[in-house]
Amino acid sequence: MANTENRGGFGGKLAAILAAAGSAIGLGNIWRFPYITSENGGGAFILIYLGCILFLGLPLLIAEFAVGHNTKKNPIDAFATIKRGWGWLGAMGLISVTLIMGYYFVIAGWTLNYTIASATDAIGSDFGGFFHNFTTGTWMPLIFAYLFIFANHFIITGGVQGGIEKASKIMMPLLFAILIALAIYSLWMPAGREALANVFTPDFSMVTGKSFLAAMGQAFFTLSIGMGAMLIYGSYFKDGTKIAGTAISVVSLDTIVALMAAVIIFSAGVENESGPQLAFVAMPKVFSTMPMGGVWSTLFFLLLGLAALSSTISMHEAVTSYFVEKRGMSRRKGAWVVTIIALVLATAASLSLGDWSGFTIGGMNIFSLLDNFTSIVMLPLLGILTAVFVGWIWKKEDMRKELTAEGGVDKATYPVIRFLLRYVCPVLVSVVFIFGIVDFIKTL
Ligand code: TRP
Repeated sequence: MANTENRGGFGGKLAAILAAAGSAIGLGNIWRFPYITSENGGGAFILIYLGCILFLGLPLLIAEFAVGHNTKKNPIDAFATIKRGWGWLGAMGLISVTLIMGYYFVIAGWTLNYTIASATDAIGSDFGGFFHNFTTGTWMPLIFAYLFIFANHFIITGGVQGGIEKASKIMMPLLFAILIALAIYSLWMPAGREALANVFTPDFSMVTGKSFLAAMGQAFFTLSIGMGAMLIYGSYFKDGTKIAGTAISVVSLDTIVALMAAVIIFSAGVENESGPQLAFVAMPKVFSTMPMGGVWSTLFFLLLGLAALSSTISMHEAVTSYFVEKRGMSRRKGAWVVTIIALVLATAASLSLGDWSGFTIGGMNIFSLLDNFTSIVMLPLLGILTAVFVGWIWKKEDMRKELTAEGGVDKATYPVIRFLLRYVCPVLVSVVFIFGIVDFIKTL
């Protein structure tokens, strides 16, 4: 029996924006965006990225909110209600978000350890060594990942309003405050402004076909596209919450945070270091040379942790809603099932960096497999399918009504969004997707 009575919802418009912005703003903005940008030519890449956000990400976010809001159901039932036989699209999203949880919780756990280690001055002076020893160890990274997963569990069992909404209303303002403080501090240093100018100056010679793939992937990842998280939040919007306005607020906040994170990180003069090392090795090193470095370092990792927490609760919620509404479990029980799955996957992902690093498929350990499979294969695929579903499968008149009435899209903008969803998204994303897959297979 489907259990969709009393499913709860957000109290108002601000709650909807903060929760969805919380999902969007995550490790993707603060940890991933800066290093992807520096690997792809700085300013030139940012221009391509902004194009992807505006022409692909925003319409897809509107589409996903619309499917959730229109049906007020979990991702599987939502697609199946609009068109019978399409529930598998929701299921694909939920499977993908579960796989993302596997490695995301591991990095989230790192942020917790780094916050505590910064506050207690325990990182020492061998920054690379500290990172290596910690992340390849057995128990320490597991304990921190588990703590993070239990924090999620606690929030999710609190309910949509009492848990997610309340947590978002506390976490997001704190996140913005820390971000602004860090940004002001970094721009205050002359060396910072110089490094910044270098990075934001477009260097089109570094742009390759791969940059387009990276920009699109980053745009989808950062907006949590296609995985059911934004859909489930859309289903909790209170009547009168405009979809388009909410999506624009979320996209704007997300973009501002990504750009500010890039400012903070590049102004520290670390743009030549890449990968996970950028946030976890290069940044603590820079902070250690600053006056009151321990405080700034603590704030920086707290910022990362808050961003990660507000994202992981939307992942957890999307999957929990499936167990509650499709499997008839209580919220508490459904949340436990998701928590246990997360614990198992995170354990495998974390151990795959150390004790289990010998186990690889195509040269990738479990951690990279989860990351690459979801971001290279699933994200673009779900983007294409969501666009096709809303643009081609959803009955034209119903979709128009959802977007223009409750959705708040005006008559002049509606055809533009429809055109982007019907033609631009499927075609562009498919082209980039195929090149990405071919490239990926070559690296195996
Ligand atoms: N948007 C998140 C970030 O930038 C990551 C993310 C990707 C995500 N897909 C998601 C979050 C699905 C929640 C649900 O870090």
